[in-house]
Amino acid sequence: MSVIVGVVVFDVAAVRAQYPALGDGRAWLDGAAGTQVPQVVIDAVAQTYRTGVSNQGAPFEASSRGTEIVAQARRAVADLVGAADPRGVVFGPTMTALTYRFAAALQTTWREGDEIVVTQLDHDANVRPWVQAARRAGLTVRIAAVDPQTTELPVDGVRALFGERTRLVALTAASNLVGTCPDVTAITSAAREVGAISFVDGVHHTPHSHVDLAALGADFYATSAYKWAGPHLAAVVAADPGLLQGLHPDRLLPSPDTVPERFELGTNPFASLAGVVAAVTHLAQLDDAARGTQRERLATSLRAAGVHEDALGNRMLAGLAAIPKVTLYGPPSRRTPTAYFRLEGRAPAEVAETLSARGINCWHGYAYAWELAEALGLRGSGGGVRTSVNFYSTDAEVNRLLDAVAELATGR
Ligand SMILES: Cc1ncc(COP(=O)(O)O)c(C=O)c1O
Repeated sequence: MSVIVGVVVFDVAAVRAQYPALGDGRAWLDGAAGTQVPQVVIDAVAQTYRTGVSNQGAPFEASSRGTEIVAQARRAVADLVGAADPRGVVFGPTMTALTYRFAAALQTTWREGDEIVVTQLDHDANVRPWVQAARRAGLTVRIAAVDPQTTELPVDGVRALFGERTRLVALTAASNLVGTCPDVTAITSAAREVGAISFVDGVHHTPHSHVDLAALGADFYATSAYKWAGPHLAAVVAADPGLLQGLHPDRLLPSPDTVPERFELGTNPFASLAGVVAAVTHLAQLDDAARGTQRERLATSLRAAGVHEDALGNRMLAGLAAIPKVTLYGPPSRRTPTAYFRLEGRAPAEVAETLSARGINCWHGYAYAWELAEALGLRGSGGGVRTSVNFYSTDAEVNRLLDAVAELATGR
């Protein structure tokens, strides 16, 4: 199946054919919780072990291969997020682990009475590490409110929390629960005006956009490879190496004090990082008409994929909204193709289980968006059902979802 995107044809069938797991006949509407991986990523991981790889720093070839994989992975991620310098790319096992690490490092630069701003829109991984570090250091924590009707994060509401003691704003570029994309650029620039830095959670945002760190104005940008066709246990914080230079996380004395290595604890996962390189190469080829540097091909491919998935997402959202008894959260003015809904008279868990029995993969609950679940009044009531589409999703999958929810709603 091909989808016409401007003059370019986005060939969804050709993309899907590269994903062995998608051949199982199910509708994979769970990408917000992690994508599947294409064969090239599986091969890159397996090939690393098959060829042999050893820890960095020894005078034999397998060790040099480890060093080369890490360097390639930093360059690949810099291409993906538009980081000017690969030396600003820090790897860690998960975004959660990295955020705790950066919170601990930044905490040492704060003074009692300073302030930080977090938001209700964020996954708890970009809230709790900051709140806990702030409490340890005697800082005031301010929480920017979401409008529960629209799921919008109003810029003015965030800006109003900034003052001369604000040191940091932790902000998501896209909500993993409802898909809301706040105006990151406006918020990071307002933060900069008061001398605060920004830590932007790009975990849900990255697979749905062509990221440009400079345009976002993000001082730190976090993402996790398993959300964009890469393997698990390969997350990233990207920043200006100059900014990293000024931070001194706890580290083992014999470990390198260079940037970015000083932020990486222990041995890097070489096979996973080889998978990251392959995943970025794959993303750059989603549109086989893409030409130029890898960064340019990523721009073409991810824009084409974005048009495809936005069309599907809009159909999914409009279709769900049209089903009686469905309450859909939002809409915000800008969002990823992610739907969050409840069906009157049915617990979200029951809906997700029934959909699963009909071959549809989706999530229920509140996906660690702890503050948002509270703001929406859903924390104690099982949350909602989340369905999401991405670059390998199809019309047929969305149809299956809409038919199944409509049948459930009418009791069939
Ligand atoms: C928006 C968002 N932030 C952070 C995380 C946590 O990422 P990780 O699993 O890499 O810790 C997730 C995971 O679902 C997420 O969706």
